[in-house]
Amino acid sequence: MTHLRSLTLNENAQPVCELPVLTGSTGPNVIDVQALYKDTGLFTYDPGFNSTASCRSTITFIDGEKGILLYRGYPIEQLAEQCNFLEVCYLILNGELPDAPQLSSFEHNITMHTMVHDQLTNFFKGFRRDAHPMAIMVGVVGALSAFYHDALDIRSKKDREMCAIRLIAKVPTIVAMCHKYSTGMPFMYPQNKLSYVENFLRMMHATPCDDYTASPVLVRALDRILILHADHEQNASTSTVRLAGSSGANPFACITAGIACLWGAAHGGANEAVLNMLEKIGDVSHIPEYINKAKDKNDPFRLMGFGHRVYKNHDPRAKLMRTTCYEVLDELGLHDNKLFELALELERIALEDDYFIEKKLYPNVDFYSGIVLHALGIPTNMFTAMFAMGRTVGWIAHWDEMIADPEQKIGRPRQLYTGAVQRDVPAGHKKTV
Ligand code: SDX
Repeated sequence: MTHLRSLTLNENAQPVCELPVLTGSTGPNVIDVQALYKDTGLFTYDPGFNSTASCRSTITFIDGEKGILLYRGYPIEQLAEQCNFLEVCYLILNGELPDAPQLSSFEHNITMHTMVHDQLTNFFKGFRRDAHPMAIMVGVVGALSAFYHDALDIRSKKDREMCAIRLIAKVPTIVAMCHKYSTGMPFMYPQNKLSYVENFLRMMHATPCDDYTASPVLVRALDRILILHADHEQNASTSTVRLAGSSGANPFACITAGIACLWGAAHGGANEAVLNMLEKIGDVSHIPEYINKAKDKNDPFRLMGFGHRVYKNHDPRAKLMRTTCYEVLDELGLHDNKLFELALELERIALEDDYFIEKKLYPNVDFYSGIVLHALGIPTNMFTAMFAMGRTVGWIAHWDEMIADPEQKIGRPRQLYTGAVQRDVPAGHKKTV
């Protein structure tokens, strides 16, 4: 690894530009190219931003080679074991774990904002009952930007904190409403006496005729799943939220942009795609056929839940998710869960295959999450909405960090233009209007 202090660009052996190298608290150093175009007339070129740092951040650190994930410096394994989701939300938003009074006040604020404006229920009526829940989420969370005019001054830290509370509190209610709407069942109101996850599971599974109390094991499992999804540095949806926020857009609209981006099968839509893939494979005897399809350059099929832009080692979240899988299936007495057996065998075979070894393709967070969510009674098409529920706090924290960043300016990438150079409309061309 080269340890540069600066990079000098030469042309005909003459220095044309010296670029400083910036050092963070850990992880790769960066070459600051802000002066590159001004000094050389050159752009950098990096489709997919594989080698591009878009910002400074103090929230999450990933070491993809070592399979390390830290939220504000704390390893995900310790947070998943020793904290609950709202503690992790507080940590991600504020930089430190809460003490007891801080946690109690944060939990109270969230609880007091779990209800949504009653007029918001009207937005559901415009959707078909079989609309994909992510389509409804984009519509209804986006509609939140038409409310709450009392706290939308993005320059005000207090208003930004209020937006964070409202989104973290209301997204589970909206996710549960998406489910109820698809079943034709009435919406269930949140109950202030319940914890965050108990409340969500009750809104998902209770009816006006029958209450629902989730077992502590299932509540703990879902709480851990939300922790594992809470943040992941500059992933596609978080970068979308930052870019939307850089124009000064309404924060609820920015989070909606993140939801839209998360929906893609290459990103948060993978958990739903994994379960559909496992059901399509159907039996361990079919695994070799699908492994070969995944390896075939001419076949668009990819092994969903495998591979990652950053992790070139195990995704630490996948290991924790697999453990959670065992716990939930054990609690529910689903020991001979075919999908889980299939997933374990698929993982074993893939990890022994040279193609996956050579390309460093390991199971990611989405590989096992679908099986756990399925066991928790969450419909497959709701999986990505669950991912959004966990990631809302990460999106908000990055949006807040971007707004408060003194270096922040509107995001406006450049391009390598390969289209037609200037030319004239043919003299004989007649206007047709
Ligand atoms: C998430 O960024 C984040 O942090 C995301 C996330 C988060 O928490 O926010 O971690 C959540 O999105 C996890 C990823 C979920 N997506 C999937 O599981 C979909 C399946 N995986 C792939 O589509 C893929 O691995 C990506 C999109 C995740 C990563 O793609 P990259 O980094 O652009 O890698 P690539 O597509 O260039 O693949 C490198 C090589 C290619 O082969 P070559 O062109 O070099 O010959 O590996 C191959 C790919 O064909 N490859 C796969 C594969 N993933 C990559 N081949 C088969 N099956 C796969 N799953």
